Amino acid sequence: MDKFTIDGPTPLRGSIAISGSKNAALPLMAAAILGDSPTTIRLVPKLKDIYTFNNVIRVTGTSVQFDEENNTLTIDSQNLGFAEAPYELVRKMRASFYMLGALMGKTGEAKVSLPGGCAWGPRPVDLHLKGLEAMGADINLEKGYVMGSFPGESVPGGEYELNPSSVGATVNLILAAVRRAEKFTIKNAAKEPDVVLLCDTLSKMGANIEGAGTDTITIRRVDSLKGIDTSNDPDRIETGTYMIAAAMHPESSLTLTGCKPEDLGAFTDDLRKTGAVVTIEGNTIRVEAPETIKAVSVETQIYPGFPTDLQAQWATLMTQADGRSTVTDNIYFDRFSYVPELKRLGANLSVKGNCVTIGGSSTLSGTSVMSTDLRASVSLVMAGMIAEGTTDVLRVYHLDRGYEDLEDKLNQAGSAIVRHDED
Ligand code: EPZ
Repeated sequence: MDKFTIDGPTPLRGSIAISGSKNAALPLMAAAILGDSPTTIRLVPKLKDIYTFNNVIRVTGTSVQFDEENNTLTIDSQNLGFAEAPYELVRKMRASFYMLGALMGKTGEAKVSLPGGCAWGPRPVDLHLKGLEAMGADINLEKGYVMGSFPGESVPGGEYELNPSSVGATVNLILAAVRRAEKFTIKNAAKEPDVVLLCDTLSKMGANIEGAGTDTITIRRVDSLKGIDTSNDPDRIETGTYMIAAAMHPESSLTLTGCKPEDLGAFTDDLRKTGAVVTIEGNTIRVEAPETIKAVSVETQIYPGFPTDLQAQWATLMTQADGRSTVTDNIYFDRFSYVPELKRLGANLSVKGNCVTIGGSSTLSGTSVMSTDLRASVSLVMAGMIAEGTTDVLRVYHLDRGYEDLEDKLNQAGSAIVRHDED
């Protein structure tokens, strides 16, 4: 079980290239299954979650070739013959549940394991299932599996309002509807760039989708979808993570290349409120750290609000701010497993309900801390990069799920991170 040993404090200087987005790639991979010919996806990051999903897709008989050197995936479902996604794989990564929409869209039926809970509590899929039933699908649960099927080649469709808005449910309903529902409308649909890219990609494959990026998406069935050569988006959460890291040490000045700045929503202005100087030129973002970090409280919201996937990173930044602040997560109410670990480093924070209060102006001292989930892990690495002395971050396999070449990228920009294989 790998750990990082991090010596600090070190500033970040120079530039880091942003990788393809994990959360945008996964829906594209599921969508490729719907094509009647192969689809190629470029800018796919070499991450554990991508490899896991490759294996989930291969179980169906679909071929998946990953040209790792060029970050390019080719998916060909012409030999798909087994419309199932087994528990052994789905439990490793929640987004495997996208196989439900993809297989029902492709074959009209699917047997997909319910996803496991997540580190910060159970994560329901009730909206996915109710939305499919509203579309006209038969949904049954048997021994931890969802058995989904459409009663015929197509269904009339209808509409379903997501409450709360859900990225995953929006993705699954789109995947099922594009080949099967005469007309289906998703209300309070997710507007995340990941969903917009999925809709744009499916439209290029021949789908009929209106309203991508708004809270009302309408899909009209088409008879077939063709494979295409397409590209994934850069990772907006990786981008935001490194922007925050660059604001944490007063001597940092970091340039991020290969970004998609327009995908950052409200986050960029929030970061500017701390005093960080953020300069955007095309797909390059430059962040210069402030001498003193202003305390800025944030609340997570669905896109384009402040993203929950940057919540832990922001709280870590605020431990260095010149005053008290609060971070409220309105998406996941208990995504604060990083708080006790930051306290071990000397930070002053406390959680009440879905809100963490951060005292600010904490001097962090290196010690051993434990990763618990993907975004908590990277926050502990960021804290170790500015803590006095040596910090050991344990269980960094969580990081490998969502940050491509993290230690290499940070070390070439001035960090001192060494990975140790604990096995
Ligand atoms: C996606 O998860 C992302 N994962 C998450 O990123 C991200 O945090 C989340 O969206 C919110 O932006 C991927 O894209 C692979 P949701 P998802 O359905 O789709 C509730 C990361 O770190 N809900 O939008 O699972 C749910 O409990 C990961 O990269 C229901 O109640 O999130 C939550 O409170 C973590 N019933 C809210 O909706 C449902 O059926 C938003 O969840 C589905 C969701």
